[in-house]
Amino acid sequence: MLQVARIRGGHVLRGSLRAAGSKNASLPLLAASLLTGETVTLRNVPDLSDVRYMAEILGHQGAIVTNPEPGVWTICASTITHRTPYDLVRKMRASVCLLGSLIGRLRHAEMAIPGGCVIGPRPIDLHLKGLEAMGCVVNVEAGLVQVDASRARGDTVFMGGPMGSTVLGTANIVMAATLTPGITRIECAAREPEVVDLCEMLIKMGALIRGHGTNVIEVEGVTTLHGCDHTVIADRIEAGTYLVAGAITGGDVTVTHCNPAHLTAFLDKLREAGVSVETGPDFIRAFGRPTHAVAIVTEPYPGFPTDLQAQFMALQLLVDGRSTVTEKIYPARFMHAAELQRMGAEIAIDGPTAAIYGDRPLSGAPVMASDLRASAALILAALIAKGETWVQRLYHLDRGYERFEERLRGLGADIERLPASELPKGFAED
Ligand code: EPZ
Repeated sequence: MLQVARIRGGHVLRGSLRAAGSKNASLPLLAASLLTGETVTLRNVPDLSDVRYMAEILGHQGAIVTNPEPGVWTICASTITHRTPYDLVRKMRASVCLLGSLIGRLRHAEMAIPGGCVIGPRPIDLHLKGLEAMGCVVNVEAGLVQVDASRARGDTVFMGGPMGSTVLGTANIVMAATLTPGITRIECAAREPEVVDLCEMLIKMGALIRGHGTNVIEVEGVTTLHGCDHTVIADRIEAGTYLVAGAITGGDVTVTHCNPAHLTAFLDKLREAGVSVETGPDFIRAFGRPTHAVAIVTEPYPGFPTDLQAQFMALQLLVDGRSTVTEKIYPARFMHAAELQRMGAEIAIDGPTAAIYGDRPLSGAPVMASDLRASAALILAALIAKGETWVQRLYHLDRGYERFEERLRGLGADIERLPASELPKGFAED
């Protein structure tokens, strides 16, 4: 049953909430559980459709997967298959991170090549180049990639691409290298906290890894990995999204159980925009509306995260003057801009740069979510729009945000999740 969100703007958001576990850490961690035949227990796993879907794929691969209590998953992959069919991969391209764990454990894998998505092409050429640099034989035909790692050996692997490093590409090479003889040196490795969390769990499983969190990661292959019990890091993107919800309404929101060190670039831009920010060891508080137009450029970590670009664009709608957003990761990641314009925003897109002319009156309207972070941005803008906004295709939101509307309501927002049949006449899904 399709669902929509109805938001009535004009409420100030105040209060505190606990950050959920990281989606972008959980997905590779779930994949990494295939590297051992022993049980892996993951805790603080967010309750998201992407997580449930990855668990379903692990089951198809042959693992025994349980979810004994909210946030806890156990995976026991005693016997697994090396094949991952298209109908599983096409729905979630992050399933590509199974490649590294299947190659590590079974020494070969066969996977459908994931498609693109609305934020742009999602190639895996760097993943495959890295595997070849380790001596894997890679064959791509009919939309399938087959990898034979029977003769793979540790080597130096350069993972840089036109947009810099690759997060899941780095995860794949690290996972494959944990059980590949020799030392694999990954240059231009991704430094994201989610990659660091993966390496930390792999080390608990007996992997020999150093340099994670820097641009050079070294992995020394071992013969086997054992089970472990690992708690997933907090979701920095979810945390940033709720901080924007506080600032955009001129409110005061504190996110607890998160790590401010994972959001340095984002918090720097919040402060530059005039939002007050306080941080502690495991919390971040944002209060007060933005007053200054700022320029943001998305970059690999520790730069400004592309996954918070749409949310920050919504924030910039408040500020008089010309703000800019330049996307250096996904140059076409501006689907949200057209929907924001339907609400009255004035945004000019010029290639990878969007110029936002803020302080325009925003009015509620029927809008369409297009991807995970864009749907959050539309809801954030609806919080300050006059009247009612109806956001359709909420399934995009549910991929990456746990009970989003419930948690926003807890901060004082007027937001309801309704069946699409409740859409006012003329707003209906086509
Ligand atoms: C991860 O995707 C995240 N997903 C994305 O979050 C995030 O936007 C992205 O990293 C960038 O930070 C997960 O972790 C599950 P990349 P990933 O490989 O690893 C190009 C969200 O909203 N590239 O780092 O797939 C690519 O086209 C999602 O939570 C190649 O050219 O992203 C992009 O321009 C969306 N060849 C850039 O590199 C390759 O082989 C960065 O992509 C691989 C990537």
